Amino acid sequence: MSNSLESFGTHGEAWDLETLAIRGGRTPDPTTGAILTPIVQSTTYVNEAVGKHKGHTYSRASNPTVSALESALGALEGAPPAVCYSTGLAAITGLFLSLLRSGDHVVVSDVVYGGTVRLLNIVLEPLGISASCVDTSDPGAVAAAIGPRTRLVFIETPANPTLKLTDIESVARVCRAKGVKLAVDNTFLTPVLLRPLDLGADIALYSTTKYIEGHNATVGGSITTRDEALNERLRLFRKSVGSIQAPFEAWLTLKGLKTLPLRIREHSRSARRIAEWLEQHPAVERVLYPGLASFPQTALAAGLGELSGGFFGGIVSFEVRGGVEAGVRVMNAVRLCSLAENLGATETLITHPVSMTHGDVPREQRERAGITDGLIRLSVGLESPADIIADLARALESAARKPDSGGVDRAARKELKPRPSAAAVVGGV
Ligand SMILES: Cc1ncc(COP(=O)(O)O)c(C=O)c1O
Repeated sequence: MSNSLESFGTHGEAWDLETLAIRGGRTPDPTTGAILTPIVQSTTYVNEAVGKHKGHTYSRASNPTVSALESALGALEGAPPAVCYSTGLAAITGLFLSLLRSGDHVVVSDVVYGGTVRLLNIVLEPLGISASCVDTSDPGAVAAAIGPRTRLVFIETPANPTLKLTDIESVARVCRAKGVKLAVDNTFLTPVLLRPLDLGADIALYSTTKYIEGHNATVGGSITTRDEALNERLRLFRKSVGSIQAPFEAWLTLKGLKTLPLRIREHSRSARRIAEWLEQHPAVERVLYPGLASFPQTALAAGLGELSGGFFGGIVSFEVRGGVEAGVRVMNAVRLCSLAENLGATETLITHPVSMTHGDVPREQRERAGITDGLIRLSVGLESPADIIADLARALESAARKPDSGGVDRAARKELKPRPSAAAVVGGV
């Protein structure tokens, strides 16, 4: 590799992921030599003459710092520059609106992030775009759900929050045979542990808010595809709806990305240790983690382990004995773990999906998907796992002692009520 101001990662070297995360697609600043792309906080770019500019015209269309992040994320998956958005949900919206028209149909995993379900129900359905929620762990069910107007299959694996797995290669075969595009929301594993494009998917999508930026500092989203025409179309739609990432957020995400391989493996190690500890705790009813022998989809988990080098990510879901009231007491009793909505960052976060991330998913759909009222989602951070375990041990013990008030306080009870109707909803992110 030359030490000049050339673009790193463009010489055809077969770099490991650790190198790609730090060097891939990154170019020192051509004007100063700064090794980090500066934050270009500018709305517009001065033209040298009519029709003559340096590649950027207006920051709703493109911005140099955002472009640097796009090159880095593309390089990580052996793809052209990714397309970066203001949030993960903006990326999902951008994908759906770029591929689907009124009358079209999309097949979606029956367990996905709650915001994806809300987008389908309250934005896309009124536009005439229909969706079928299908058990995508069964490729036959995916094939059966694809109709003449199906344009896209959208899967999440491991799915938020039950960690249900889908075999990307099998579903990709079905999609190819039917001429339908396959998108994978790979937010939970990231390209470090799973590379959907190498497994036959057309699109890999990320909430960069989670592991990619990884420090609870930004919201953002990205889409990677090797389909150049789709990449162009995504950019045109992003410019048309105005959902590009902001430069400072892009810069922070570039910084976070460098340590992604180190962080996601450490998150995974701690998560496995905590899942094993929870599983043997007498107050815990069940634990969902693909790295545990008890995980229901044994064969799919083994297949994932082969691809990921035995790492299964940092999310563990569990239920405590005593149902929802006991679960709420645990979430209210933690001190180190923070009761909050995000995942995939340095701080351990504990979330109650039914009242928080999946509050807008209709109750019947939640119940079918196994998102029970008592389910707790733990995003294992990078603190000492011993400290996290000590915090959980204390919370489980204090939850086992019923409080004088009889358990769940009034505010918590109110939260657990099903939301009135999708259209009326403003809560739940
Ligand atoms: C799997 C998954 N995809 C997408 C999103 C949406 O991302 P964002 O919150 O950045 O809009 C989330 C958010 O929790 C998520 O968990």
